[in-house]
Amino acid sequence: MTQSITLRRPDDWHLHLRDGAMLQGVLPETTRHFARAIIMPNLVPPVVTGAQAAAYRDRILAARPAGSGFEPLMTLYLTEGTDAADVAAAAASGLVKAVKLYPAGATTNSHSGVKDFAKVQGVLEKMAEIGLPLCLHGEVTDPSVDIFDREAVFIDTVLDPLRRRIPGLRVVMEHITTEEGVAYARAAGPDLAATITTHHLIINRNHILAGGIKPHYYCLPVAKREKHRLALRAAATSGEARFMLGTDSAPHVDALKEHACGCAGCFTATNTMPLLAHVFEEDGALDRLEAFSSLNGPAFYRLPVNETTITLVKHELPQTFPEKILTEAGPVTVFNPGFAVHWHVEA
Ligand code: DOR
Ligand code: ZN
Repeated sequence: MTQSITLRRPDDWHLHLRDGAMLQGVLPETTRHFARAIIMPNLVPPVVTGAQAAAYRDRILAARPAGSGFEPLMTLYLTEGTDAADVAAAAASGLVKAVKLYPAGATTNSHSGVKDFAKVQGVLEKMAEIGLPLCLHGEVTDPSVDIFDREAVFIDTVLDPLRRRIPGLRVVMEHITTEEGVAYARAAGPDLAATITTHHLIINRNHILAGGIKPHYYCLPVAKREKHRLALRAAATSGEARFMLGTDSAPHVDALKEHACGCAGCFTATNTMPLLAHVFEEDGALDRLEAFSSLNGPAFYRLPVNETTITLVKHELPQTFPEKILTEAGPVTVFNPGFAVHWHVEA
């Protein structure tokens, strides 16, 4: 008997679309299945002001495939020079749904990020006042901290003190990768949520490093050991309201991934929903996939749920996905889970 599941159309609560030829090439991969996405602002130069976010939103809308109703939910890139009044105006107009904080140096195009948290205290207080969420890349950048410990150290030394300094600040822990991240999210009240990526539910650090280095599995925060992957799986499949899908689908052309200093990012926009159906089925939690992909995010962001649906069908034969998306900027390798996937989103 063919198995199938119909869900409210999912949203992606953490997505990199880039700009120009890359945007044009990758956007259809997201709009095929997703209704909305929180759009990361780490362009070069970054999307800092409301005016820049409005212009970027227009470029995304112009790049949508014909007939697509996809809605980009814009974010601002927090810098030490960010103007609280500009943030408040961009939020009040409905343009901007969150502000993204990159610790300076943490990841791709994060050099304009925050070094001295005292300098952003006023903006964060304004955000707490108006209820605008802060999306956090939660890794310390201190070179003396082991890369596999940077998330756990961030929680203790940055995130927790920050939340105590600014009570009421609504925070999204982006792309959590550790059992410490899961535990911190679980212990917090409703003003905190966490996104979990598709790839962190599937790979651990062995997949990156054992039997030859796999550049297409390298992302930030880097995948951790197996016990952490299992904690993420338990969290995502729990149905708990604080955990929501944020793919962190982050396209880089192959030439920059397969490189002596390869870029961080896994490109999962194309096959995320079939992969999630596989993962949730494996964990006996297919009935909780909709909470993770389609309900918990809108609840946290105080947005309506989508009225349209998608249907995933499990086929007898393994389903195929393109190995690469060919963009005018160059080929982008689609995340390969390393196992056969029988689920498919029906047209
Ligand atoms: O793997 C990642 N890629 N992690 C990030 O934090 C940034 C992203 C990107 O923009 O490429
Ligand atoms: Zn990201």
